[in-house]
Amino acid sequence: MTVQHDGNTPMIELKDVEKVYQADKIETVALSKINLSVAEGEFISIMGPSGSGKSTLLNVIGLLDAPSGGAVALDRQAITSYRDKYLAKVRNEVIGFIFQTFHLVPDLSVLDNVEVPLLYRKMSGSERRRRALAALEQVGLNARVHHFPSQLSGGQQQRVAIARAIVGNPRILLADEPTGNLDSQMGDEIMDVLAELNRAEKTTIVMVTHDQRQAEKTARIVRLFDGRQVA
Ligand SMILES: Nc1ncnc2c1ncn2[C@@H]1O[C@H](COP(=O)(O)OP(=O)(O)O)[C@@H](O)[C@H]1O
Ligand SMILES: [Mg+2]
Repeated sequence: MTVQHDGNTPMIELKDVEKVYQADKIETVALSKINLSVAEGEFISIMGPSGSGKSTLLNVIGLLDAPSGGAVALDRQAITSYRDKYLAKVRNEVIGFIFQTFHLVPDLSVLDNVEVPLLYRKMSGSERRRRALAALEQVGLNARVHHFPSQLSGGQQQRVAIARAIVGNPRILLADEPTGNLDSQMGDEIMDVLAELNRAEKTTIVMVTHDQRQAEKTARIVRLFDGRQVA
């Protein structure tokens, strides 16, 4: 039986999620009782002051970090273990990540950077290349594939990072301040790329941002303060 997905299918569900960091006998409650449901195909943003838990929340959704309490489900599958090999597979196949500082490999070309996530899949070199070129075309960078990251503007580097995040066709795209290092015009261009992905591919997107103007372009804003949801 195939599962029918409609606009109300929850793609991300957090129930009473908590995250406590323990360092040098000091406990930091980074997340407290977070309840969040993001429907398939939704594009939402997370806002809040520095230290309010935004990155922690994104890392918990992206399975990069295990919560200290509560439950996480992605695509209606409860995450029951954080040790499984299965988890690495979900991370690689279901989730794409974009960061403020791009995180590109400096001595790989644009094309090679975008192919990296596909190295973990059984796929021929020519198929990898075909998909990487298609992802670069989606972000409007097909003329720069043999450049190195240092030869590109910040906005172009972020486009490469987006291409790398979407090359495996993830259902969920998580972006941690993707426009934070860009001027407002480049920021707008990156927002246009994300909005188009959301529209054309129905990719579910959760974006952390400090920028109210960018956040208002998304369907919903979740606000954090001291690890708590305030709106
Ligand atoms: N690895 C860690 N170890 C200890 N404390 C951490 C760690 N990561 C984050 N924190 C703390 O958790 C809180 C939330 O951090 P973070 O999620 O990075 O906030 P934001 O992204 O909103 O700036 C902060 O008080 C931060 O210092
Ligand atoms: Mg952060």
